[in-house]
Amino acid sequence: MSECPRTADYLPWLDTELRRDPYPFYARALEEAPVSLDEDGAIVLTKYDDLMHYGRLPSVIIAPEWEKAGAWSVLLDAAIGHDEPNHTRLKRLTSKWLTPKRIREWVKITEAVTDEILDRVDTDGVIDGSDLAVEATHRTICHLLQVPDDEIDEVRRHMRQAMPMLSAVPSPADIEACTEAHIYLQNRTAALIERSRAQPGSGLVDDLLQAQDRGELTEAETLATLLFFYFVGHMDASYLISSGLKLFASRPDLFETFRSDPDSRQAMVAELVRFDAPEPVITRATTEDLNIHGYRVPAGTTLRLMLGAANRDPDIYSNPHEFDHTRPPEQSRNLTFSFGSHSCQGRLLAEAEIKAVWERIGARYSRVEVVAEPEMMLTDASRHYLTLPLRLHS
Ligand code: HEM
Repeated sequence: MSECPRTADYLPWLDTELRRDPYPFYARALEEAPVSLDEDGAIVLTKYDDLMHYGRLPSVIIAPEWEKAGAWSVLLDAAIGHDEPNHTRLKRLTSKWLTPKRIREWVKITEAVTDEILDRVDTDGVIDGSDLAVEATHRTICHLLQVPDDEIDEVRRHMRQAMPMLSAVPSPADIEACTEAHIYLQNRTAALIERSRAQPGSGLVDDLLQAQDRGELTEAETLATLLFFYFVGHMDASYLISSGLKLFASRPDLFETFRSDPDSRQAMVAELVRFDAPEPVITRATTEDLNIHGYRVPAGTTLRLMLGAANRDPDIYSNPHEFDHTRPPEQSRNLTFSFGSHSCQGRLLAEAEIKAVWERIGARYSRVEVVAEPEMMLTDASRHYLTLPLRLHS
């Protein structure tokens, strides 16, 4: 293993430039160190085909990685924290809420909320794009769960506080902030559950509680599943909505195409998803010794699978650093929503929400302008807009 390139020489996780724009770093790692050894003994993979191959081996599992995630280890009780057979059991319990037919219903909420927010915009057209994106996506999830859509600012604040823990190198302050935030996240979820117990409805919360009463999942699994949907459900979709609005501001031609050509819209969403992964890394653990391109990887090693790097792998994509929604089908795939059995259950909803928000804006406005530098919260593992000051022009 001694000759394996060192991750720190290619992907210095704490470097502010890497956090701001990781793609030049990924490009060099893809070229010179597609497999590297991290300071904590993890193996970091960047190539698309390597992620797809090693990430899907039956001996490569997910659960031990959530044990290391501080307060996020509550998700060991959600589908995302389980390996088989519990993973499929839990995923099945929520899948009927995210069918294409249901999503067509949920997205009407996204549209209505976006219209409501746009109705409030003054004649000067000034709006915070990131507030709009969070409100539209969070209120959609609340509708799906059938829980009140109040406390949006608190939900958002605590999620911001909890996310940096998922870095490869969380600081003691990140760990403490995450623990503090989880007191709110878990109490809030428990309160939503209590409320649904007291006043049953017909949303996802009620459905899971009935399944729990039938013995199909435990109380801890209900809590973890609902916490995941309620809090995580808005994060990445809202990031991409904002990221697209910023792109439209710098490329008015793209916004014009999006507005005038409905057939281009899905491809634009998909290309942005490839181009700007909100959570550019997932982790797994090996349970058998592996040989990865000549490097011996013992059982029990963490694999850091760089989705964001694989999305720009030049062996898969021509001009990988260009936004090009006219790519041929073989270049239109991406790994932003993960892959294999753990691939994102909310993918269709997230893509539909992004398209819906841009469409509602495009129906009223012909140009988007960024009027002040956006504030961002960026780590090696997650990207967020804190603000996105925009002016919308009719
Ligand atoms: C752009 C928005 C989103 C992105 C980029 C995203 C990304 C991801 C990724 C990367 C994973 C897999 C993690 C892993 O393999 O370790 C995942 C899993 C998951 N996501 Fe999403 N997600 C998004 C939106 C959503 C939404 C809106 C929902 C719910 C309504 C959702 C629900 C889930 C669930 C339940 C899983 C666990 C699936 C499993 O473990 O089998 N996601 N997501």
